[in-house]
Amino acid sequence: MRDRETQERYGPDVSRRSFLKGSGVAVAATAIATAAEEALAQDKKAASAASSSKAQDVELTINGEVHKLKLEPRVTLLDAIRNDCHLTGCKEVCTTKNCGACTVMIDGKAVYACTRLAIAEQGKKITTVEALSAGGKVDPVIPCFIKHDATQCGYCTPGFVVATRAFLNEHPKATLEEIQKGLGGNLCRCGTYDGVAKCALELAKGGA
Ligand code: FES
Ligand code: FES
Repeated sequence: MRDRETQERYGPDVSRRSFLKGSGVAVAATAIATAAEEALAQDKKAASAASSSKAQDVELTINGEVHKLKLEPRVTLLDAIRNDCHLTGCKEVCTTKNCGACTVMIDGKAVYACTRLAIAEQGKKITTVEALSAGGKVDPVIPCFIKHDATQCGYCTPGFVVATRAFLNEHPKATLEEIQKGLGGNLCRCGTYDGVAKCALELAKGGA
């Protein structure tokens, strides 16, 4: 069921081929190429900064708030969020891009924060689980998790909640099969998969 690399994350039924079949092929292809070049340039910049061990000024925009930090380039996004921004919803479990406990959204996409460098995520919109219940406004994913008993020890839960929200944003009418595949990048040792899938399905049926 898990298909981590092809998920990048969450496009269970949107293949590159079907995407390119759409009407704006040329425009889309140009946009993809530009985005890829920009990502490469950013990676190179981050890699070059990472070769230094000196703390540097790093600005992260998390849940709409700008955090001005001094971080060594080797600091992961997860560590920066937890240790420097004191947002401890996302969890550190495997640190190897395998479990999803560290899931946050970057520019709306669910990503593993444990294997990204904080310095490389400047200028992006980072969203943690805390944002899903901020200001007294609770994202429907949260009560739906409770309703379907989709949590036991709760360690995987914040990551699953963020992953579910990101997935439903992209696939508001997802089927059960798509949900199972789309959320396959998150693991739960307590086995709450059934509840998580029921929750996502209920929200998808209601238009997420
Ligand atoms: S802690 Fe990041 S994927 Fe497990
Ligand atoms: S609820 Fe325990 S790991 Fe998922």
